[in-house]
Parts: sequence; structure tokens; C-alpha cells
Amino acid sequence: MSLFELNSCWQLHSCFYVMPFFFLLSLINALVGPETVYDQRSLVSDSSEWSLFEQSFPEKLREQFGSCKSIKDEGERGVCELLAATHTQASTAQGNGGSPEDPPTFTDSCPYRKEGGPDLYLHASQRTPHLQSLLDSYSRMHTRCVSSEYSKLKDIYLRKLTPECRYIVWSCTFGLGNRLMSLISTFLYAILSQRVLLVENAEWESLFCEPFLGSSWIVPAGFSLKDDESPSFAQFYDLGCGSDTQRHPECSSNVLSVVFSGTTKSSEHRFLVCPSAIASVRNVAILNFQNSNQHFAVGFFLNPVLRPVLETLFPKHNVFHLLSHFLLNPTRPVWEKVKNFHAMHLLNSTRRIGVQLRESKGEYRDYYDMASPLCIKSKSGLCPIELAEAKERMKKDPNFVASNSQDYISVYVSSLAGDHFTQLNTSMRKIEQETGQQFRIFTQGSDGEQLEDVGHLQKALLDIWMLSLSDVLMTSHMSTFGYTAQGLAGITPYHLKPWPDNPCWLSVSSDPCFHFGPKKVRCPKDKFTMRNPLKEVNYMCSCPDLPNTGLQLAES
Ligand SMILES: *[C@@H]1O[C@H](CO)[C@@H](O)[C@H](O)[C@H]1NC(C)=O
Ligand SMILES: *[C@@H]1O[C@H](CO)[C@@H](O)[C@H](O)[C@H]1NC(C)=O
Repeated sequence: MSLFELNSCWQLHSCFYVMPFFFLLSLINALVGPETVYDQRSLVSDSSEWSLFEQSFPEKLREQFGSCKSIKDEGERGVCELLAATHTQASTAQGNGGSPEDPPTFTDSCPYRKEGGPDLYLHASQRTPHLQSLLDSYSRMHTRCVSSEYSKLKDIYLRKLTPECRYIVWSCTFGLGNRLMSLISTFLYAILSQRVLLVENAEWESLFCEPFLGSSWIVPAGFSLKDDESPSFAQFYDLGCGSDTQRHPECSSNVLSVVFSGTTKSSEHRFLVCPSAIASVRNVAILNFQNSNQHFAVGFFLNPVLRPVLETLFPKHNVFHLLSHFLLNPTRPVWEKVKNFHAMHLLNSTRRIGVQLRESKGEYRDYYDMASPLCIKSKSGLCPIELAEAKERMKKDPNFVASNSQDYISVYVSSLAGDHFTQLNTSMRKIEQETGQQFRIFTQGSDGEQLEDVGHLQKALLDIWMLSLSDVLMTSHMSTFGYTAQGLAGITPYHLKPWPDNPCWLSVSSDPCFHFGPKKVRCPKDKFTMRNPLKEVNYMCSCPDLPNTGLQLAES
């Protein structure tokens, strides 16, 4: 890729620091044109009094929407309706778990949360009050639904029982980075659709604490949708199922599969983009999110009806960051290692650099050995005054770097190829002499292979967590492992590139790239076509590391 193929988002972002805001605004308008605004009235609806957003809720969950009607702001009104529907769903479930109004009273047994794991993130963003309320309300709903129907899930699946709640079963066999992006995206949809999220992944409890106190997010023992052959969402939607007028045998399916991968077609992307698509599945009991490996959360921002709500919940568009801090809390074996490593090596360092070097099996990219020390030197935010002082003192005392041992910059290296670590450790000695700064390089060792047993998954998780505790992140382009670390950290990473004069490229945000996002999507039932996702909103960018097919939300 040449410099000339840079997308506008990247250029905008890099200019952000030097341009006054009003100038930036006019530049955005000049570059992408005024935002496309969809007039809800011009979109078709199934002749009801309900707006398109409201039609995405089952009828029985709309009964408390009246109190939201007077709210003028579309996004705030939508959040009000989400809260009302989630509350109604919690109330209709017969389970215990407290009244839907009460705060939960369960004690937390997750050492990560109890011992201050989340506080280690120095760059974390706060949830908006809207998002916090929704997560609280969702947790109560989840807990009550699970308490009422958990043991009956199989009967619900076999249609022996009409369920009180609706469900999402998520499973994924890709690498850990892909799994986490796919899970966070699925969770976003779960909170937008008042569906109980259940995980079908054998080792999950060894990796993460239960996010819903007093409840469970793991499918019941003996329940599996791995071999389920229900129709896909696209088949269902194409038959006109889900609206009251159509009746076709496939329309009665109580399970639909939804998948977003590198080969997903535009017909499946309608699930993200078309308002009537979301509405069509509102009464389906179980959605089977099986083997998605994408950060498809980005795609919901292309849905004109969901967008105002999403912008209210995530004003900075940092979806992965905010949801992962709620949903993903490592279990004790991982947390103990994170805690010790942090106390030993990171706590007293003046700055923490994370370097992630992705290698496929048997590969060795030499350029990492050139690029990473260059980027560490140029992007660690070394203060010019300090640098000048250090050089001055080095002149007088050649052992200055070694003797001044309490001040150091930590560099955590994650790589499956151990040679990168050794190379970097050597290169940094030279940079110490140039800068007068002490660098300490750490790693947790490499196996040379990506393995999937619990021990290796815990190790991979530890690696992601250590990287995510950085102040500055340097990652391999297109690496989902790196994406999850940047998302957790809430910082925009540099991608390492094979060019000596320009090896570190700033990405557009901490939110991961949706590698194979929608390009053009027709929504005939809603009477519109999304022709170009990059023209929908000014924060929708092509990913700097995969510009042809990738979509990424820039932070605002
Ligand atoms: C970090 O600094 C504190 C306070 O200066 C000190 O007590 C502690 O031993 C240091 N930790 C390590 C691992 O050096
Ligand atoms: C890294 O380099 C330092 C200084 O030369 C050395 O003391 C240390 O043992 C090296 N670490 C590894 C793991 O090779």
C-alpha cells in the first residue's frame, strides 16, 4: 500500500492534534459531504403506529414505552425504550434474582474485580450513565431469565415449552483474539435485543469470571447448538418471515443461525444494516451466533435506526473498550500472574510500552527486528528536555544509564517467535546509549505455536492482558490479538510496518477493525440502499491495516 492510498479517516486523525475543531469540522464536510440523514417516515413500516426502532422489540415488551414518548432526542428516547423493554423482560420472567427494580445483592467471587484489576487501566474510559443503566438492567434481566428457564433450555429448543425470555447462544473455535471480538459484538446485540447471552465454549469458565453475578452465562450442561441445522437469518428474512402477514414452514423455526466471517455475503450483512431485518427476528426464541470471527459490532452503526441509540450509549464509539471491561474479567490463575507481573515490572516503570509481533506458524518477519526498536525510540513520548539532560549526564558519567536504575521504561513483548525478543533486547541497549533512558524488556516466553488447550489459552489471555496494560502499544497489522489488547487498553496503537523511514503507523482508534465489513447493502423492505459505508457517518473509517474491506470506528 502506498501513501497515496491513505484513507481520509487516517489523515483526519493525524491532523486532529494540530487543527482547530471548527476547521476540522469543515474539512470533514468537504471530504465526506454532509451526513446522509434517513428520514424515518420515508422508510417503510408495517403500517403500525410504532417507529422502526420500536418495531425491533417484541410487542409484549413495548408496554412501557409511553413514558419515553416525550423525549425529543432520538438517541435518548431509544435508550429509554431499551431500558423499558429490558425491565419488562426481567419482570415477565418468573425467576428470582430480586425484583427487577432492586440492585443485585449477590456477592462477587471474582478476584480480578475484587482486587482492583480494572483499576490498573490508566487510560480507561468511563461508561456513560446510559450504558451503565442498560448494563445494570440487562444483568438483572439475564439473572432472572436464567433463574427461571436455565434448566428448561432444551425443552425450549425442542419446542416443548413457550419461553418467557429470548436467547443468544454464542460459540466460536477461532483464535482467542477473534473469539473475543466476536463475543463482544454478540454481547452488543444481546443488550440491544434483550436476549440472554449464553456461551458454548468448553474452556470458557477457566478463562473468565461470571459477568452476571449470581447467574450463569455458560450453556446448561448437555445443551449444544454445535450441530444445529436451523435456517440462517438470510433465508428467514428472504422468505418474508417475521412480519405478521407471511407464513412459510421455515418461518416457524425457533432457532436461526447468524454468522459474520471473512466470506459473509451482503445478504447476511442486512442483519446489521437493515432496520426491518432486526425487527424480523424479534420473536425468534434462540439466535445461534456460531463461529463468527469478526468485530461486527461496527456494522450496527450503519443501521440508521440503531445509530442514534448507539451514539448515545457510545459517544466515543469505543464499543470494545467499554463492553469488554464489563464482560471480560480473567479468572484467578490468569489474574494472579497479571497482578504479580504488573507489581514486579510495570508498577514502578515510568512508561509502559507493549509490543505485539504476530507470526504465523513457521514464519519469521525480519522487519519486526528493525521496526520495533525504531518505533519504541520515536513513539515512547520521550520528553526532549529529559533527553537533553540525560545526554548531558551521560557525558560526565558513562555508566549513568545503568546506575540510575530506579527510572526505567518497561517494554512488554508478546511474540510466538522467541528470537524477536532476543533481538529487541540487544537493540535496546544501543538505544539506551543514544537516549540515556533505561529500557527493561519483558516477555512471558514463547512456545513457537498457537495451541488451544486451557493452559495455552490462559497464557494467551495473560499475554493480551499484559499488553493491554501499556501506555503505548505497537502491534502487528491485522492482528486480532493486538486489536483486543488495544481495545481493552483504550488506546490507539501503532502498526509496525516494514519501512525504515516510516515503520510506525498510528491507527484510527482503540476499537478493533471489522476485517470484512459490509460494502453495499440493499434494504428493499426499508426502501433504502447503503451504497458506501464510509459515506454514512464521518467516524466510519476504512482500517489503516486493511483498507479495502475493513471498517473501523474512529474515536470522536
Ligand atoms: C516499587 O516502588 C515501591 C516504592 O518506591 C517499592 O516499595 C517497591 O519495592 C518497588 N517494587 C519493585 C518491584 O521494585
Ligand atoms: C536482556 O539484556 C540484558 C542486558 O544486556 C541482560 O541482562 C538480560 O539477561 C537480557 N535478557 C534476556 C532474557 O536475554
